[in-house]
Amino acid sequence: MTVHNLGETNSILNQFIAEIRGTQIQKDSMRFRRNIERIGEILAYELSKTLEYLPKIVETPLGNKNMELPKEELVVCSILRAGLPLHLGLLNYFDTAENGFISAYRNHENNEDEFEVIVNYFAAPSLEGKTLLLSDPMLATGKTMENVLKVLKNHGTPSQIHIVSVIGATQGIDYVKSVFPKNTHLWIAAVDPELNARGYILPGIGDAGDLAFGEKL
Ligand code: URA
Repeated sequence: MTVHNLGETNSILNQFIAEIRGTQIQKDSMRFRRNIERIGEILAYELSKTLEYLPKIVETPLGNKNMELPKEELVVCSILRAGLPLHLGLLNYFDTAENGFISAYRNHENNEDEFEVIVNYFAAPSLEGKTLLLSDPMLATGKTMENVLKVLKNHGTPSQIHIVSVIGATQGIDYVKSVFPKNTHLWIAAVDPELNARGYILPGIGDAGDLAFGEKL
């Protein structure tokens, strides 16, 4: 797997990352969602540089222009619910992408720290031969991605997989590397060193779903 950690280079991206981390600014859920969406747009732009392009003639009112335009058939698949703002950010740039949604949750038996990831909803078009963008803002243990990979096998074999994430823990990235095909790309805006006992990224941001959409029972 090729890891593209965009936060390693100084850019405006790190301003948006700082805003989703900061305990005061992140409380403004509309700004939080918009920042995740903006991060998605930047990740989409960087990822677009690795897609396949085909020559095309564009007719302007004054003449013709030869251009190279994206060839790929893209499918953006996001993990509910935290993946929704990131999904929108990707769609803002990939206008014609098809869409898939996956509902996965962590089942903590008896409220213990150990958990199993359960995928209970997967709605997507055929992935056969297409370029799949799997979006999940928080790549913590990597177990959700592993389970998603198992489920999407029933929907055909994508020609290429790009995992798109905002913050990842080193451990989760290593795990995903071990289970995904070698030609997978990971596009990520920041990498943090640790996970806590509940599988949250440290220092991370907290619960991305709650920050975007409010606390759940
Ligand atoms: N999901 C979150 O929302 N935050 C984490 O730190 C890990 C998983």
